[in-house]
Amino acid sequence: MPAQADALVFFGATGDLAYKKIFPALQAMVKRGHLHVPVIGVAKSAWTLEQLEDRAKDSLEKHGGLDPVAFDKLCGLLRYVDGDYSDPATFQAIRRELASAQRPAHYLAIPPGLFGLVVDQLARADCARGARVIIEKPFGTDLASARELNRTLLRVFDETSIFRIDHYLGKRPVHNMLFFRFANAFLEPIWNRHHVESVQITMAESFGVEGRGAFYDQTGAIRDVIQNHLIQVMTNLTMEPPVRADSESIRDEKVKVLKAIPPLTEENLIRGQFRGYRQQQGVAPDSQIETFAALQLEIDSWRWRGVPFYIRAGKSLAVTSTEIVVRLRQPPTMYEGFDLQPNYCRLRISPDITFAVGANVIAPGQETVSAMAEMMGTQHPRADEMDAYERLLGDAMAGDATLFAREDHVEEAWRIVDPVLKAKTPVYEYEPGTWGPKEVDKAVVPAGGWQTPTMLDSKEP
Ligand code: BG6
Repeated sequence: MPAQADALVFFGATGDLAYKKIFPALQAMVKRGHLHVPVIGVAKSAWTLEQLEDRAKDSLEKHGGLDPVAFDKLCGLLRYVDGDYSDPATFQAIRRELASAQRPAHYLAIPPGLFGLVVDQLARADCARGARVIIEKPFGTDLASARELNRTLLRVFDETSIFRIDHYLGKRPVHNMLFFRFANAFLEPIWNRHHVESVQITMAESFGVEGRGAFYDQTGAIRDVIQNHLIQVMTNLTMEPPVRADSESIRDEKVKVLKAIPPLTEENLIRGQFRGYRQQQGVAPDSQIETFAALQLEIDSWRWRGVPFYIRAGKSLAVTSTEIVVRLRQPPTMYEGFDLQPNYCRLRISPDITFAVGANVIAPGQETVSAMAEMMGTQHPRADEMDAYERLLGDAMAGDATLFAREDHVEEAWRIVDPVLKAKTPVYEYEPGTWGPKEVDKAVVPAGGWQTPTMLDSKEP
């Protein structure tokens, strides 16, 4: 059993991620009785501890709600170190705040350009011994930079002490995909090339870049959500059953399936940009960055060879939803006169959690016409449910690496998209509120077309 961390050092404490996600996660951990150790915020903002507490309060009021009792307890744990990350004195101050802590967890919610500096300073100030490091995506911007970043981290920490956060893995429906596949009997017999015709994964967001133009314009949809979140979803959907339930057995299987994916080619990619993107603050007026991408991958394995996997993701699309559709092959039916559609399984990850099976039935009141009917189970997230950040911070502090991206996984995922990142394929304009550029329907489209997530079932009954 890995030891529980005895302090959380939290770099970037005055930043945006802290404000939107981390303070709510910390309050929830306190409320559930999962956080009892000192939480040392670090930033360079010329702030006092009181100012950090005020910021935390404001964050909670805006994101999820302030719980006065839990907030008081959180304030009792909170410390603050203000200083420059290049100044050794900042890290000496952290060392003093750590006092007798033996196994701190250092959470780097800071720009990746600072990771190297911070881990070196941690080592020099004797803050890295016995410690874990938790880092945020992006883990590099291509294969070469990801390798460089991994080398930087490994100079100071072992791989077993590095926790790379891909918050999608902390989402209940994403990590439950394995439970759903391997705790039930009905899916596995059909989950292969003999029965599956195609798979599509859609991550649609109806909003734009929301003030993150400068970041997004260096990033684009492939780097922002496909190389990480959606490839993680794809591995959960396609990996073999792990031989044991420990973190490394699970992560080994994920890496194995990634190794079987040939690199993405230019012909299998369509990039788009929504009209109006170039007018966003921080975005270059001639930007060639994609706010939408649709692509096709294959998995060259015994189980999946020949099954096309389609992924599309974009900003300013028609709805906000992440959904997987697995289409099955047609049976050798005698109902030839009917317009039969392929059966499908639909797994929705957000906004609600849905599993649905689409089947042909005789249309009501007709004898010779078929219609599609869905058998569907939906769960709406509960108010007291753990959010991804709470789950991931708790797991990292407990030393459970299952829901974190391992070095080889990150590098394999970059290997898959790396060639097209440099290829400068065309970027087609699309209207906000649509399903991306029309070029998608000519080039990257599953047989039978993309299935549009319908939002009828996502409303509370
Ligand atoms: C982030 C991306 O990693 O994930 C964002 O940077 C994206 O662009 C977000 O909107 C989506 O995550 P969620 O949990 O808000 O659906």
